[in-house]
Amino acid sequence: MGIMPLTQRGISSSRLAYGCMGLGGGRNRNALTAEDIALAEAAVEAALSIGIGLFDHADVYALGKAEAVFGEALKRNPQWRQEMKIQSKCGIRNAEGAAPKRFDFSKEHILASVDGSLERLGVDYLDLLLLHRPDPLMEPDEVAEAFDRLETAGKVRHFGVSNMSERQIRFLQRSLRQPLVVNQLQLSLGHLDWIEHGVNVNQRKGIDINFQEGTLEYCRAENIQLQAWGPLAKGLFTGRAGSGEQTEPVRQTVELVREMAEEYRTSPEAIVLGWVMRHPAAIQPIIGSTRPGRIAACKDAPRVAEAMSSGDWYRLFVSARGKLLP
Ligand SMILES: NC(=O)c1ccc[n+]([C@@H]2O[C@H](COP(=O)([O-])OP(=O)(O)OC[C@H]3O[C@@H](n4cnc5c(N)ncnc54)[C@H](OP(=O)(O)O)[C@@H]3O)[C@@H](O)[C@H]2O)c1
Repeated sequence: MGIMPLTQRGISSSRLAYGCMGLGGGRNRNALTAEDIALAEAAVEAALSIGIGLFDHADVYALGKAEAVFGEALKRNPQWRQEMKIQSKCGIRNAEGAAPKRFDFSKEHILASVDGSLERLGVDYLDLLLLHRPDPLMEPDEVAEAFDRLETAGKVRHFGVSNMSERQIRFLQRSLRQPLVVNQLQLSLGHLDWIEHGVNVNQRKGIDINFQEGTLEYCRAENIQLQAWGPLAKGLFTGRAGSGEQTEPVRQTVELVREMAEEYRTSPEAIVLGWVMRHPAAIQPIIGSTRPGRIAACKDAPRVAEAMSSGDWYRLFVSARGKLLP
């Protein structure tokens, strides 16, 4: 396991990040409640207590209320700002009038989105801004103008992307002055295409895999931090009710994760996250649980990743894929 690109670049050394998508009371227009604020405070405290120093947002989470509730919690605990890096995303727009939910990388939208995020969070700058999902209508020169404006105004320190392939990153990067330092993708033991594409080259069985070849290797070679969204696979292997009654690969993997948690003297969550982190790309998982107990259960993941043998990594992979390798 290498050193995280974000650490190498002096941006953050937090091995785990906390994802704030579940905070703020859901995708509705209800006002924030005292309970929403208390839940957010407890989640952030739990994350900080296990050494998490990077917090992931997006303008659209809970229709803006995830950032707003975080801002309220931060107001009550202003000392937190020194301990944390804040990352947000823009580029997804909710349905408005006749326009459906869509993606928008226009300069105007990027600038307005960051102003909205800063206001809701109650901070002067974002440590990182990611473009959330590729916009087919994107004009890289317009993105470049927006990034320059944001950097010059001191509103954003570093930039990155999410859900992009190598080619999309290269295409965008050609026009930008700032390096893209993050690519956030869905990477987990429950969503295996990022590994499957590499072990199925030249195999007909690999035909249904959807992961753009070379994306992992490109990010590693260019020192771009891979962040894993959905890293707990929403609890699929760690006790979510009913998950043990699904397919045979899920059933056997739930059992294997439990056994390994005993072997490594830790929690199932730490095993599932440690599996992602054992990959040599030094992936940074973005944990999305809102429950302090479940967040605390993630604490050992870096230790598990350090200790996990190649044999154990493959045991989990082969169990979750449900068949032996080619
Ligand atoms: N870039 C993107 O396109 C993108 C997309 C999605 C997410 N994200 C980011 O990634 C973060 C994590 O994503 P995620 O929330 O999908 O990932 P996750 O960490 O895999 O899953 C967390 C979710 O699973 C539930 N869960 C976990 N263990 C459980 C269990 N044993 N039983 C029942 N429920 C369980 C949690 O519920 P509790 O809250 O009750 O624990 C929470 O809703 C988000 O917060 C967001 O910041 C980014």
